[in-house]
Amino acid sequence: MTKKQTIFSAIQPSGELHIGNYLGALKNFVELQDKYDCFFFIADYHSISGEYNPKEKSKQIFDLALDFLAIGLDPQKCTIAVQSQIPEHTELAWIFNTVTPLAELQRMTQFKDKSQNQDQNINMGLLDYPVLQAADILIYKAYGVPVGQDQIQHIELTRKIARFFNNKFGETFPEPKDLITKTPKIMSLIDPTKKMSKSHGKKSCIGINDEPEMIKKKMRKAVSTTEYNEDIYSFYASLLENFGTEKNKKYFLEQFKNKDIKFSELKDALAEDISNHFKDFREKRKELEKDPEKVKNILSEGAEKARVIAKKTMREVKEKVGVIMG
Ligand code: TRP
Repeated sequence: MTKKQTIFSAIQPSGELHIGNYLGALKNFVELQDKYDCFFFIADYHSISGEYNPKEKSKQIFDLALDFLAIGLDPQKCTIAVQSQIPEHTELAWIFNTVTPLAELQRMTQFKDKSQNQDQNINMGLLDYPVLQAADILIYKAYGVPVGQDQIQHIELTRKIARFFNNKFGETFPEPKDLITKTPKIMSLIDPTKKMSKSHGKKSCIGINDEPEMIKKKMRKAVSTTEYNEDIYSFYASLLENFGTEKNKKYFLEQFKNKDIKFSELKDALAEDISNHFKDFREKRKELEKDPEKVKNILSEGAEKARVIAKKTMREVKEKVGVIMG
């Protein structure tokens, strides 16, 4: 039997996931766990480089673990862990700091954007963020990293960091590939020219954990138009495409073709289809929520498993860097 290739990805615990996050990441993770040796992480150390409330963080970590498990990530098939529970990640990030040119970090678009958005808190973590991300990936010598479009630059830098390290200390890290998920962008419920994002408020997103009543309410308030509008039409078309039943797809795509959409009918139908899509997820999540010990155990077992590999890589790295005395 040939060994499966390693996949690494992570999500920051910073609030509820929406259906855009689901299509862009989680849905894909669930499929990958059957084919690869997968590591799916909760990137808590990344998430504290932004503005946040320390009192909410541990619940956000727990909530993301619930989302991972309830959506179908199976700890028998993949490794689920919290980043801060494997201190070797930050240790490796320090070593990577010493081979990463400052200019590489300063030109990252996400760093520039975030510095603008939180101009009172441009901390070192914000700048160093991609180096920790590189450590996350390379410590497991991952072959592939499933990410959205916005992370490509960080994966590119990860490959450079692997090269910088290998050139200086000898061949150690393979260069990981980005596995871009080809999913249509899900747009905001209130502005179909913008991507669905928490930063535009809860009314603009459908949470994967929203109750059916809430989904219906949000859909009813979503954009509509009396004239043909390309953005609005494609917004609804992509929801239908991804969540609609065959019957609804057929029925409403006909309305689309004739440019005569009955929005109130379409919105209620979509609300129902989206609710049904996440029905099992909501039930499983409620069950798990009642058993926090079980969830915490899964996370610490995941960390233990991951740590065996992380420690091994760190030993190799320390030797090559020259900090282990013979
Ligand atoms: N930076 C990623 C994001 O915000 C999260 C992340 C942290 C990550 N470490 C990672 C993604 C390693 C892929 C691989 O989406």
